[in-house]
Amino acid sequence: MADKIRVLLTEEEVNAKISEIADQISRDYEGRHVHLICILKGGVFFTCELAKRLTVPVSLDFMSVSSYGSGTQSSGVVKIIKDLDEPLEGKEVVIVEDIIDSGRTLAYLVEILKQRNPKSIELCTLLDKPERRVKKQVKVKYSCFTIPDEFVVGYGLDYDQKYRNLPYIGVIE
Ligand code: IMP
Ligand code: MG
Repeated sequence: MADKIRVLLTEEEVNAKISEIADQISRDYEGRHVHLICILKGGVFFTCELAKRLTVPVSLDFMSVSSYGSGTQSSGVVKIIKDLDEPLEGKEVVIVEDIIDSGRTLAYLVEILKQRNPKSIELCTLLDKPERRVKKQVKVKYSCFTIPDEFVVGYGLDYDQKYRNLPYIGVIE
């Protein structure tokens, strides 16, 4: 039987907010070049929509990490499944994520990526669930939506690899 999905954020709401955040990033990085790091697979839809709306020069790289062990709890151990293609030395990096939950994935990622000597490094997320945060040191500069502690799908986010292609953010009921 198909899962019933309740719409939490419509496609229009998500796109309008991405435009706002893109404007903010374009202003903040005026005269500079932004190197976006998309965290696969969840971050891919958001990264594309964000990148299309930026008015500053942009380059893109992709990284795939796995933070979950067998359960649904983030283990804190992040495995790099696919590393970046290019070095970060001297670059103005913005990491683009689908959602920040416990913060374990990003806390770890920021630590390893800082060691590659970027000029700067900031975080940008489509969704943030601050109630679930374990790693309080994770500072998110750009966040589109703060959501309650519910499991969401769509716009890149999956449940068992399904629903990433939904054009909106929904909750499975
Ligand atoms: P963290 O390390 O706990 O912050 O985990 C972040 C990762 O967990 C995200 O990149 C997602 O892949 C996954 N995740 C956390 N919450 C959700 C959710 O509500 N729906 C789908 N994936 C989620
Ligand atoms: Mg993910």
